[in-house]
Amino acid sequence: MTDTLVPAGSEQAPKRLFIKTYGCQMNVYDSERMADVLRPLGYAETDTPDDADFVILNTCHIREKAAEKVYSELGKLKELKQAKAQASGAAMTIAVAGCVAQAEGEEIMRRQPAVDLVVGPQAYHQLPELLTRTARARGERIGADFAPVDKFDALPAERGGTGVTAFLTVQEGCDKFCTFCVVPYTRGAEWSRPVIKVLEEARALAARGVREVTLLGQNVNAYDGEGPDGTPWTLARLAYALAEVPGLDRIRYTTSHPNDMGEDLIAAHADLDALMPYLHLPVQSGSDRILRLMNRKHGRQKYFDLIARIREARPDLALSGDFIVGFPGETDQDFEDTLDLVRQVRYASAFSFMYSPRPGTPAAGMAKQIEPEVAKARLHQLQALLLEQQVAFNASQAGRVLPVLFEKKGRHGAQAIGRSPYLQSVHVEEADHLIGRIVPVEVVSGQQNSLTGRLIADASDHNAESKAA
Ligand code: SAH
Ligand code: SF4
Ligand code: F3S
Repeated sequence: MTDTLVPAGSEQAPKRLFIKTYGCQMNVYDSERMADVLRPLGYAETDTPDDADFVILNTCHIREKAAEKVYSELGKLKELKQAKAQASGAAMTIAVAGCVAQAEGEEIMRRQPAVDLVVGPQAYHQLPELLTRTARARGERIGADFAPVDKFDALPAERGGTGVTAFLTVQEGCDKFCTFCVVPYTRGAEWSRPVIKVLEEARALAARGVREVTLLGQNVNAYDGEGPDGTPWTLARLAYALAEVPGLDRIRYTTSHPNDMGEDLIAAHADLDALMPYLHLPVQSGSDRILRLMNRKHGRQKYFDLIARIREARPDLALSGDFIVGFPGETDQDFEDTLDLVRQVRYASAFSFMYSPRPGTPAAGMAKQIEPEVAKARLHQLQALLLEQQVAFNASQAGRVLPVLFEKKGRHGAQAIGRSPYLQSVHVEEADHLIGRIVPVEVVSGQQNSLTGRLIADASDHNAESKAA
């Protein structure tokens, strides 16, 4: 029977799915997985809401601005939905997913009647079922119960996409409760995926041509997933196993908490070639007093000691971080301590934010909230220093030969853009035949946000050859 070869649903016209993603890399991963879940229902992704049958906003609640963007976007989508209904009678379903959905689902439904359904970060595997139900009645809100295990079990093994780099969530949730942060409330308790499942997904990615995987978790270095032997494995142990997956040549992980940086993970940086020498290790503040108020559970000296040990293990490792300025009670001296920490550590790149009071977090109720003008001035000063360090780091790469993983075509001619071990974009002329390969590149110059490189005579794919042998 030939018709058994035709996949179910393929006789229907393809339905179009538009997903807009806000926030962190985990949301990027989740958006890809939502597309994977909906593909068997006949949904193909489109890059504009204009022709979409189904629009998902995958939202972020971390700062007030991020959350408010959702409501203004929903306002625009409502107009589009109405215009489409009037012009052609076509229906457009609107869903809000992600951390705003989790934190204020009811408010979304109340403030924006055009929204058909709201789904939290632990429930998006139920989208197919929710879609059939909302065809009958609006107002579904799913997700308050945190059971990431159900979600990951329900996700399809296949992963769409075409790139040579990919995200892979291995850990979700947070038990740290920093006093400024909503993540423990939106993502739930810390939970790690079993090793077997992670390896399965990594093999599927490698089979699709992925050569660099970034392991994701809100506290990824707290990973303690069940190993094949029934005992919990650390992130370091997982990294060694992943390095054995044929085709996977580069492993990164983010975001790490200083208190979960185990000795075996530091040692892995010394002896695992696949582990990239680049580490995102947020400290948030350089002031012991503020760190205490933030409930970060470590002081500045512990951070300095940790970085010294990591650099001893892997001297060429580059660091990035996150900072918050204007936390309640932050004095000029506290801020000076942050600048001092930055000067001592020397970051390759870093993110810095103005403190944003979040509903339900302890810091939002603290006395001595900082005037926005003061916080803004501090942010500018910190960002100027961090930018100076980033520019200096990029410039310092000139003359070095770095292995570059070519990812995509550049803007003109046969130019290609790749990634250095330090996550910098590297622009190389006459290199578009090398996409998907890791090739030594001589860095000619470093700019603010990228490097310019040139191919050296013997441009063979070392990693691939050693793996294939
Ligand atoms: N799990 C990670 C980061 C999660 S959120 C960690 O522990 O480091 C990403 C970054 O957003 C944080 O590192 C912090 O710098 C920033 N952030 C979180 N809550 C914030 C708030 N209320 N105001 C401003 N920045 C915030
Ligand atoms: Fe938020 Fe702190 Fe958890 Fe990071 S460790 S997600 S900043 S509560
Ligand atoms: Fe935002 Fe949620 Fe990520 S609040 S930063 S999308 S975990």
